[in-house]
Amino acid sequence: MSAEKGIAIAIDGPAASGKSSVARRVAQELGFVFVNSGAMYRAFAWQVLQAGKDANDEVSVLELLHSTQFECGEKDGVGTVFVNGVDPGEQLTSDQVNATVSAIATYPEVRERLVAAQRAYREHCNVVMEGRDIGSVVFSDTPYKYYIDASPEVREQRRKAQGIVDSIADRDRQDSTRKASPLVAAEGAVVVDSSDLSLEEVVAVVLRGIRKHLA
Ligand code: DC
Repeated sequence: MSAEKGIAIAIDGPAASGKSSVARRVAQELGFVFVNSGAMYRAFAWQVLQAGKDANDEVSVLELLHSTQFECGEKDGVGTVFVNGVDPGEQLTSDQVNATVSAIATYPEVRERLVAAQRAYREHCNVVMEGRDIGSVVFSDTPYKYYIDASPEVREQRRKAQGIVDSIADRDRQDSTRKASPLVAAEGAVVVDSSDLSLEEVVAVVLRGIRKHLA
């Protein structure tokens, strides 16, 4: 473990913009750890569902938060999250979690807890992290900020092609209008519209920028 902090690359964007695939590939190319911060919000949403709580009842959700342990680690270069010792696995992308996660992500106390876990990664590794507020909040001091966008139509199509039921418009609205850390392109972020680009093309744009900086 080094006393010096690692490098953080922030990749933000709306649901189904392709940011996850881009971040994963960029991390592989650079040999950095890939972390999907949305998985942490999803893991807690899953826990809320497991406990039979109403995601819109903030008091009850926060009560559960206080008794929940998150263990965020890394396996084979990819971030992992366990909730009270359990890996929710494929449940993270269930229809129920899709429908619940944006609501629990609006609560500032939930965000505080998970942002601390996200920041901890940079204490011991170089990281490519994707999410909604990575460049604006979690690693606001990093010079490596990217915002991957795509039109709502293209994003709906991408989700359908994955066979996932996901109300993109609803999540966009909740993610962009919430008071705590709304989805925005961070100041200084390079904005890439991926609507008409292949994954390889977007990865190339991001890597070019990072390598220029790192050189
Ligand atoms: O990236 P995703 O679709 O898996 O994220 C799931 C939800 O988590 C998303 O609707 C908003 C929330 N989220 C967030 O608020 N902040 C992040 N850094 C990542 C995700």
